[in-house]
Amino acid sequence: MTVVVLGSVNRDVVCEVPRLPAPGETTLAIGTRTNLGGKGSNQAVAAAKAGGHVEFVARIGADPDPSLRKSLREYGIGLDAVGEVPGAHTGTAYITVAGGENQIVVDPAANFRWETDAELDASVAARLVADAEVVVAQLEVPVRVVAWAARRARRFILNAAPAATLPTDLLHRCDPLIVNETELSTFTGTSATTPRETFDQARELCLSGVPAVVATLGAAGAVWVRRDGRTAVGGYQPAPRVPATDSTGAGDAFVGALATALARGDDLPTGVAFATAAAALAVQSPGTHTAYPTREQITAALDTVPPATRPF
Ligand code: RIB
Repeated sequence: MTVVVLGSVNRDVVCEVPRLPAPGETTLAIGTRTNLGGKGSNQAVAAAKAGGHVEFVARIGADPDPSLRKSLREYGIGLDAVGEVPGAHTGTAYITVAGGENQIVVDPAANFRWETDAELDASVAARLVADAEVVVAQLEVPVRVVAWAARRARRFILNAAPAATLPTDLLHRCDPLIVNETELSTFTGTSATTPRETFDQARELCLSGVPAVVATLGAAGAVWVRRDGRTAVGGYQPAPRVPATDSTGAGDAFVGALATALARGDDLPTGVAFATAAAALAVQSPGTHTAYPTREQITAALDTVPPATRPF
């Protein structure tokens, strides 16, 4: 049961502040730390800790810190398709954290330096992508490379973060497309204020040709919708109430856990409940990789996840 994660690697420079600064404002930090992140590496670690066999497809700088590979290998992640880009440096994310909230600016660097499609076809990544039960990608790497993987995957999951306009052909391969409320509004053109409105928007997207949509709502949980013949069915999965310490990468914990659940054969609502438990555990500790829960921890926390409303 293999999950291929295609995506970014960043060095996260994290500043903790009492509150997020307004535009033009200078704020003194309480403390600063550096850790490994990027939506791709976060989701690879989250999927591996949730019990998946994970192969990572990524691009890093030509002079990488050896601890980068060592750290990912310790989670059992396959790194044969992590390439080093001559003349580029590994991506950097500048993150400001205040309590449960954050702001992130990413310098993608090597994350945006990939070979042509023909060269990728001849690479080890092509075989890994074609063989995996599930391939999951995000948008901190070029859309062209994401579309390359989607065309070759048996089952393709896209976490459309950060938000971008996407070709219809790519959207129609997403099973599911995973978005937060802001990202969902870039596809629908309107913003939702309640889970019911989010559900209706996700359903519209599904009926327009996306096989399945999962919309995450932070502390309010998630909604899911999938095509069922000529209609679409779905539900609302509330999240357990937990004290949030750091929400950075909580969405990645959700996506990684969901990818592992779907790869092992769970249906979408079961996978969404598992992913909701994983994200609720992740927000209770600072950071990303070290904050992500193991399969045993997620399974134990499933008791705290409220029952889903289905149909909505
Ligand atoms: O989703 C969180 C991640 O977004 C951080 O680890 C940072 O690297 C940015 O990519």
